Amino acid sequence: MNIILTGFMGTGKSAVGRKLAKRLDMEYLDTDELIEEREGSKIYHIFEEKGECYFRKVESAMVREVSRLDRYVISTGGGVVLKDENIKALRRNGFIICLTANPEVILKRTERILDRPLLNEPDPGKRIKELLRMRQAYYEKADFSVDTSNLPLEEIVRRIEEVLRKKNESCSCRAGGT
Ligand code: S3P
Repeated sequence: MNIILTGFMGTGKSAVGRKLAKRLDMEYLDTDELIEEREGSKIYHIFEEKGECYFRKVESAMVREVSRLDRYVISTGGGVVLKDENIKALRRNGFIICLTANPEVILKRTERILDRPLLNEPDPGKRIKELLRMRQAYYEKADFSVDTSNLPLEEIVRRIEEVLRKKNESCSCRAGGT
């Protein structure tokens, strides 16, 4: 079983994913990092040179590939949730946790890092709000979600560990026939 982190840019997927994997003694991977390795190019270059449509195809192929793994914490790009086939593949062997944050926090966390092509706009704050509105229903399909806006990393990881523990307890109960 994998643990899948979804959520908008700047919600903390990479930092949470790394810490969670260490804590649970699982492997960690990030679909965007793997795409950059495979393509030999940064995400913003892929968007610039080949377009978003190409990126989404590569992203779906990567999702199919990583879904076959086991015992991985997998951080996904913010747009992975938009395709139903991606979520279906990830869910087959994964528990999906969505990290959320309010638009002001997302703006603060993303404005220092200029490698997010979708926010490379004159008014990124407005774009963040638009995209969040458009994507909300997709992010809500997760099995569990944590608002990371005002929580320290340690507390976010603790909440996720707690929900995983409860889930495992209920699974072993059912397996035991009680
Ligand atoms: C995207 C999010 C990015 C990256 C790409 C598109 C999105 O990943 O996949 O720029 O559509 O939200 P992060 O969420 O890791 O920044």
